[in-house]
Amino acid sequence: MILVTGGLGYIGSHTLVELIEANEEVLVLDNLSNSKEDVLNRIEEITKVKPIFYEGDIRDIKKLEEIFSTYTIKAVIHFAGLKAVGESVINPIDYYDSNVVGSLQLLKCMKKYQCKKIVFSSSATVYGNNPNVPFVEDYSLSTTNPYGTTKRMIEEILNDIYVSDKEWSIVILRYFNPIGAHKSGLIGEDPNDVPNNLLPYVAKVASGQLDYLSVFGNDYDTSDGTGVRDYIHVGDLACGHLQALKHIRKYDGYEIINLGTGIGYSVLEIVNAFERASQRKINYKIRPRRPGDVGTSYACVDKAKKILDWSAKYGIDRMCQDTWRFENNYRK
Ligand code: NAD
Ligand code: WQD
Repeated sequence: MILVTGGLGYIGSHTLVELIEANEEVLVLDNLSNSKEDVLNRIEEITKVKPIFYEGDIRDIKKLEEIFSTYTIKAVIHFAGLKAVGESVINPIDYYDSNVVGSLQLLKCMKKYQCKKIVFSSSATVYGNNPNVPFVEDYSLSTTNPYGTTKRMIEEILNDIYVSDKEWSIVILRYFNPIGAHKSGLIGEDPNDVPNNLLPYVAKVASGQLDYLSVFGNDYDTSDGTGVRDYIHVGDLACGHLQALKHIRKYDGYEIINLGTGIGYSVLEIVNAFERASQRKINYKIRPRRPGDVGTSYACVDKAKKILDWSAKYGIDRMCQDTWRFENNYRK
């Protein structure tokens, strides 16, 4: 049985579909702080299987004990945590508690039950303001907000655990900018509030729920002056997790691996791609730079290819088409 923490969230739900379609047995622990239980029904609609679900928090040791003592958990894919950069600056305690303390509780329980295989969701945000693109896994890290620091701390905790006991098998995946949705249009990114990230915001402008997009800066050192990012289809990310699971089953070790496409697109290129996908006009206004933003971020993807035999399949048009389908189908 594979425990998927945070499995009803955006990336977790797509990974569950991949896992179920690969005949894996999965169990989800999620506190529903940023997702809805109905995602289970949508996963069932896609896969014909409804995952076992425990509503609960990774900080709740009793809940973890209940799961680990009832099932033989062979590996954990650990998505659960808070992820909004701006919110983490305003409320750092919640972020350290949910992400760092929560991960520690999980790891304590894993150790107690001799489950030593984990795939952990890290983020390109740990590369901070490094100007040397593409970002390579062995770059030194410099986080610029508490959210990023929680990811860096958990990476270090996992490293120390591996140093202390070489029977652990740990893969840390640093995602770049996940976008897109499942081709069915049944699951996708469904933020509770007005979105902060580019794609959900653009989708709401296209659908008329928001008037215009604020483009944060057009004076970066990029082709058109707007920020460049490595957008990656969430379905590709889900496949990356399946490969990571295969890897931890086979090898002990500690690996940090970027998941991105290796290609950067500017904000205006994304606006154009979304206009093509939606056949709608996206109104935008140029605004000042957003504090803390880097000009350009994209991944070196060599290690993912080498270690996981994985590379991204989907291009930017498909990513926008799938985002738009989900926007229309589900998120009204
Ligand atoms: P999400 O918010 O959609 O999913 C996270 C899930 O975890 C949610 O269902 C939420 O209810 C649950 N959760 C949160 N705190 C919990 C806790 N303490 N106990 C139990 N459940 C909890 O986020 P996502 O985009 O799917 O991201 C998944 C992981 O990937 C996160 O760790 C995030 O930091 C990381 N990540 C995300 C991105 C991105 O842009 N989406 C980029 C890089 C890394
Ligand atoms: C992308 C580009 C903005 C909104 C964040 C986190 C990162 C990871 C992914 C979790 C930038 C521009 C955006 C808007 C805009 N999440 N933009 N107008 O900042 O690269 O990464 O999400 O781990 O940690 O930091 O993503 O989608 O917010 O921005 O012009 O309304 O779009 O300036 O160039 P970002 P984003």
